[in-house]
Amino acid sequence: MKILSIETSCDDTGIAIIKTSGKKRPCFDILSNIVSSQVKIHQKYGGVHPTLAKREHQKNLVPVLKQALRKAKILKVSSSKYQVVNKNRNKKLEKILIRERELYQKLERFFKKYQKPKIDAIAVTKGPGLEPCLWVGVNFAKALSYYWKIPIISINHIKAHIFVNVLTGFKNRQQLTVGDFPAVCLIVSGGHTQLFLMENFGKYKMLGETRDDAAGECFDKTARVLGLGYPGGPAIAAYAAKSKVKSQKSKLRLPRPMIYTKDYDFSFSGLKTAVLYQYQKSKIKNQKYKQEMAKEIQQAIIDVLIKKTIKAVKNYKAKTLLLGGGVIANKELRKQLKEKIKKEQLNLECLIPDIKHCTDNAVMVGIAGYFRWRNGKIDNWKNIKAEANLRIR
Ligand code: KG4
Ligand code: ZN
Repeated sequence: MKILSIETSCDDTGIAIIKTSGKKRPCFDILSNIVSSQVKIHQKYGGVHPTLAKREHQKNLVPVLKQALRKAKILKVSSSKYQVVNKNRNKKLEKILIRERELYQKLERFFKKYQKPKIDAIAVTKGPGLEPCLWVGVNFAKALSYYWKIPIISINHIKAHIFVNVLTGFKNRQQLTVGDFPAVCLIVSGGHTQLFLMENFGKYKMLGETRDDAAGECFDKTARVLGLGYPGGPAIAAYAAKSKVKSQKSKLRLPRPMIYTKDYDFSFSGLKTAVLYQYQKSKIKNQKYKQEMAKEIQQAIIDVLIKKTIKAVKNYKAKTLLLGGGVIANKELRKQLKEKIKKEQLNLECLIPDIKHCTDNAVMVGIAGYFRWRNGKIDNWKNIKAEANLRIR
């Protein structure tokens, strides 16, 4: 089957088309994966501006859709030069996209020009995320589902980050099986820092989460303090990599908030404040200082994430560790986590997505969509709502 998937929960407009074969032992083939990043637009705010992001999604969705269909070789121009315009259908479409006028106009032109593609299902992120952004994606998916008469599956963004791990190839399989549980999942991004236990399929237990800023947010905000640009994660990582000062020898020392607490919660706002104070106090603010500081920021975040994750793995005797979210793209974190697992001699299968599948993308939505579809979880397009605070259940 072919799934068209849509991701607009934050500042990336993503559309992917994946092909799956073999129901019992699914195999995924990524036919296209288009991500239109809005980084340049949000740069000057040092974070994502929701209203601007919504506007950009409206602008980008149809061009990104076209690109995704073309790359997957399923974009076909309609044969009849003058397609019969079904006024009722267009009226309904207008109603679905009543709050997305610009998107409606673009989509109407698109429908006039192109045929219905050979797609079996549409998967869309319904939450968690920025509400205005989520709604654009959801309404767009509804419009496609209604117009093309294709079933729709709504997806939890966090579960999408988890399920994309199957692409890594799991003991030569592209799916989880009962024997892989219990699994511990760590999802770290600009909006989330969550650690939870997956006891079985569909059985999740939240172990802990951030009490204030997400780890990605801490990267973004501290990078701003140092004047390194946005998004902060890759900027801090690049500066850190240039520092020649060994962490143990560094005179800079930042706190590792909540590292020794008994729970699995996190807190990163104190780290951000500590960076701000130290930076303001420091007389030297040259490149070397910034590189050393970036290295210490990165290490403080890595230390806390690894400590709590390994504690959860041990306490719950996890057989599998699943990682996801933008911060997992951090090479140092990936390296140090693997080293720690080796050092502790944990009998653990640790899955880390490809870097391109860590930050937001629609492939992950399609994969999660497939597994939901296989469980018969098809939604009625009329009932799907964006849920900014959707929780893992
Ligand atoms: O998952 P994602 O694309 O979007 C959200 O759902 O938030 O994550 C984006 C976050 C940003 O905060 C960004 O700074 C961070 O992931 N990030 C990184 C790296 N690449 C992206 N953080 C640390 N190291 C990286 N290499
Ligand atoms: Zn995300």
